[in-house]
Amino acid sequence: MNNKAHLLNVLLALVIVVLVYQLSTNQSSETAEQPVFTEVPLMTGDTIASEKKSLGVKGHIHPKPALVIGSYSADGKANIMTAAWAGIVSSTPMSIGVSIRPNRKSYENIMATKSFTVNVPSAQNVAHMDYAGNISGYDVDKFKVLNLTPVKGDYVNAPYIQEFPIVIECEVTDMFELGSHIQFIGKIIDTKVDEQYLDEDDNVDIERINPVIYGGEYYYGFGQRLAKPWDVYKLFIDDMAPSYQPIQYTNSTLASIYNRKSVRHYTNRQVSKDQLTELVKAGMAAPTAVDKRPWAFIAISERSVLDSLAEVLPYAQMLKQATAAIVVCGDMDKALEGIAQAYWIQDCSAASQNILLAAESMGLGAVWTGVHPIEEREQVVKTVLNAPDNVVPLNVIAVGYPTGEEMPKNKWNEDNVHWDGW
Ligand SMILES: Cc1cc2nc3c(=O)[nH]c(=O)nc-3n(C[C@H](O)[C@H](O)[C@H](O)COP(=O)(O)O)c2cc1C
Repeated sequence: MNNKAHLLNVLLALVIVVLVYQLSTNQSSETAEQPVFTEVPLMTGDTIASEKKSLGVKGHIHPKPALVIGSYSADGKANIMTAAWAGIVSSTPMSIGVSIRPNRKSYENIMATKSFTVNVPSAQNVAHMDYAGNISGYDVDKFKVLNLTPVKGDYVNAPYIQEFPIVIECEVTDMFELGSHIQFIGKIIDTKVDEQYLDEDDNVDIERINPVIYGGEYYYGFGQRLAKPWDVYKLFIDDMAPSYQPIQYTNSTLASIYNRKSVRHYTNRQVSKDQLTELVKAGMAAPTAVDKRPWAFIAISERSVLDSLAEVLPYAQMLKQATAAIVVCGDMDKALEGIAQAYWIQDCSAASQNILLAAESMGLGAVWTGVHPIEEREQVVKTVLNAPDNVVPLNVIAVGYPTGEEMPKNKWNEDNVHWDGW
């Protein structure tokens, strides 16, 4: 009897355990079926009818990069193709995702070598990049046709392009079939940049590289700098201000005009001869009376010459810190005759303003220090620079990389404007 009761107790306990288990599993599957996202209450703004025109399914993410992917075939032939469906996809490990259609020669290559390089073109490589994106490596040797040099990667089995400013070696860690394209994930093994585009802290000077942007209808160059990342957001926080004032002009010419300021404090970063040439070129783009172009420009990058000028010009002490300067001169042999000769001053002033604006647009800082009409200053500048008699220095423009201390001034004053007469 005792045994029977014990058996019944065990059976009862079993039934209870099964029932509790069923109940608990039912409950958990119910929880699992709950929607992940709870409904968000509509804000008043959400109820406003959209004023935007729907274009349907389009890939309008802007800007898109225009990159050139390097790869070797199984038998070691170097190939390149252009890819815009690409970008950084992870920080650790630092990786690039690039989507490639299976009918590309590059797809076949990357499947064979599990490696590729990403080559960032500058504006001067735009035609090479477009060719690599229109002609297949199945048909031609693109390196040969484009007269580009393939260099075997130091770490991966893929070639990079010697002539492109930035090259990145990647090892394939993953691939995803997405539909029309297969996305290859490439872990970055090494990044190389031409020295001329690096500053002393190895920061890449993107403005000088001027990478190409793929805009669908056209390729575009790199635009003006707008603001500093991790800095401009401070505009919206009380008691905080961005260290770099954001540029709010969509018109880049107006941006340079309104952001120009007289910069007298510079870092020790050297302004290059290429940059000085660009500034002088901008100067020579100015209009002149009767198209006489009565000017001469003395470009200076030698420390000793800058220091010598600072010694003789008390109001140009910033030349001791500047890494370059341009002396804008009038050449009286090219100027108009008689009373009209004085037009050289306006002509050279227009050139000087062009130089100042070009410097601002190139991320440089500059300041105009006056020479003419103070004869004594003209004489000392001419002596230091060994200038001939027919030349009159109008100014010395000090140039350097700004420390960021100077800010533009808002000089707009309605009172100075007289509509349709005084
Ligand atoms: C601007 C531009 C962007 C392109 N982006 C891609 C891309 O992201 N993926 C892709 O598979 N093809 C892309 N293409 C097309 C290939 O580059 C093109 O088919 C190329 O000829 C393939 O070369 P291959 O067969 O030698 O690999 C792009 C072409 C251009 C011009």
